[in-house]
Amino acid sequence: MPTEELKSDAAKYLMETYARQPISIVRGRGAKVYDLEGREYIDFVAGIAVNILGHGHPDLVHAIQRQAAQLIHVSNLYYTEPQVRLAQLLVDHSFADRVFFCNSGAEANEAAIKLARRYGHDKHGAERSEIITMVNSFHGRTLATIAATGQEKVQKGFEPLMPGFVYAPFNDFETIAGMVGPKTAAILLEPIQGEGGVHVADREYLKHLRALCTEQDILLIFDEVQTGMGRTGTFFAYEQLGVTPDIMTLAKGLGGGMPIGACLARESVAAVFTPGTHASTFGGNPLACAAALAVCRILLEGRVLEQAKRMGEYLAKGLADCKDRHRVVREVRGLGLLQGMELDIDAKSVVADCVARGLLVNATSERVLRFVPPLIITQGEIDRLIETLTAIFNQRVLSEKDARH
Ligand SMILES: Cc1ncc(COP(=O)(O)O)c(C=O)c1O
Repeated sequence: MPTEELKSDAAKYLMETYARQPISIVRGRGAKVYDLEGREYIDFVAGIAVNILGHGHPDLVHAIQRQAAQLIHVSNLYYTEPQVRLAQLLVDHSFADRVFFCNSGAEANEAAIKLARRYGHDKHGAERSEIITMVNSFHGRTLATIAATGQEKVQKGFEPLMPGFVYAPFNDFETIAGMVGPKTAAILLEPIQGEGGVHVADREYLKHLRALCTEQDILLIFDEVQTGMGRTGTFFAYEQLGVTPDIMTLAKGLGGGMPIGACLARESVAAVFTPGTHASTFGGNPLACAAALAVCRILLEGRVLEQAKRMGEYLAKGLADCKDRHRVVREVRGLGLLQGMELDIDAKSVVADCVARGLLVNATSERVLRFVPPLIITQGEIDRLIETLTAIFNQRVLSEKDARH
């Protein structure tokens, strides 16, 4: 079936919640995907920071096949080894002592919000339930997480919003310090705001937040749904920002493409979740956990983290050089393989130009291009990105000149 036909069937049968590029992807290998008509694309989207090992990684495929043949799902009424081993691995390689598994980033944040409210309630009384989140943040699309998200556009039309969230400007310690009070249960933030346009948290700001939280027994929650799993060059972004949270949420890259989310916490915090307080039917099922276990092992035991770090630096430099050559580029921001390029022009039209030239990139907010390739991206593939952007920006300048004459 050609893409045009698929597009018209999609328009007929699917709820139209997504603005899609006019291509249909049928297979992938490494950092490349292929569409229905056989065209090749270098994938700088990676399922929006999901396919960290690229497409068709043999060890991941094998782990999924093996587990699918053995046991796909049983209830959390029973123990399964992949779930326990995955929790153990995450605990061994992070600040956390315990893990709750779910299926997505939004659900991981839901778990974190419930955990923070329960902790405030149990330790300080029912009053203590408010969570401070950041202006321009993104935490998911469920009702609690759109309330947590400090962006009107994701909330509009879904009011009344769940109460209990207030918003502070990002990277502004004085304002947030003035907002903290007896009701404050937690501060929730992304170490790098991804959806909000790729803004990196200042180390000093985080250090002050940590001290404030410790002093007042307020929980510091890092949403590492996008920044976790090697994306920034370390297993988790907090490792290089010099601050440790009390709760951390993960999803996206954790399963390398299999849906899985996780909420990690320190022992004294996790202890408020007792049997019956939280649950998920699919959360932590053996198939998703076996995939995530394979992803983590490849990341930690292979040279993938190392490569991600090197390629992150290479990408940042390539984009910065591109900025120096083109006036249309206003700023380049990011850490590791999570990079944003703010433009003077509409980013969506550049995304479309990239697709036409065999490159998948994504726009976050109106003027920011976001690059979140698989961690196995190569130097040659990054060179192709820079060449393509250069060609697009040069073309824009020529078209502008033509329009003026
Ligand atoms: C930082 C952050 N948190 C949460 C989410 C929501 O994750 P999901 O779409 O898996 O629910 C996202 C998704 O983009 C995200 O970037």
